[in-house]
Amino acid sequence: MVDKALEAHEARRLIEDSIRVWDAFLRLFHWGLVLAFALAYMSAEEHYGLHVWSGYAVLALIALRLLWGFVGTRHARFADFVAGPRRVSGYARAMLRGTPPRSTGHNPLGGWMVLALLTDLSIIALSGVALDAAENRAGPLGGTRMFLYGDLIKHTHEITTDLGLALIALHMLGVAGSSWLHRENLVGAMITGRKRKPD
Ligand code: HEM
Repeated sequence: MVDKALEAHEARRLIEDSIRVWDAFLRLFHWGLVLAFALAYMSAEEHYGLHVWSGYAVLALIALRLLWGFVGTRHARFADFVAGPRRVSGYARAMLRGTPPRSTGHNPLGGWMVLALLTDLSIIALSGVALDAAENRAGPLGGTRMFLYGDLIKHTHEITTDLGLALIALHMLGVAGSSWLHRENLVGAMITGRKRKPD
């Protein structure tokens, strides 16, 4: 009985000390994107149907995310996290000194990483649609003359995928580094939507 009351008190205190940062759509988008990208990557060699459909899922998720960047909640909006060169270089210098300020939403460098990821993943998925047309005359572009550019499209699809893997590795390193520096669980925040109140 006492234990239950203590647990409820602790849960209330955690909620009172935190604020909502990531809305439900953004969290679903994030983990949906992780899943769709992982499926597309793993199915590339042997399960073509799954590869194509998870690629479309990546595209659909990104299209919704772009819209959400204009009409979504505060920290989901591009205006909230796309910082100008001054803020980015100030933040990068503070990071090199080991004292970057804590951000409630994405930090100034993280904001540009979000844009880089969204851009690169869009190019991967769009070049995939074009490649399906060039090689199989299938998909929404199947009736066009994409086969004329088959090599170029294939290279684009491959190079942007390699770049995507590097960006994802950097992204995960950034999340881990930021979590460690500010003693907070950013992965947990992307699950619950909540972060500690600004210091
Ligand atoms: C399991 C590995 C991953 C973890 C733990 C992780 C964690 C996170 C966290 C904590 C954030 C919020 C960063 C912040 O506080 O500013 C975030 C944002 C983001 N992550 Fe990941 N991530 C992972 C994998 C990926 C992958 C594989 C992709 C791409 C396919 C990705 C794409 C993104 C994007 C686009 C955002 C920005 C969210 C938005 O504002 O729309 N992440 N991630």
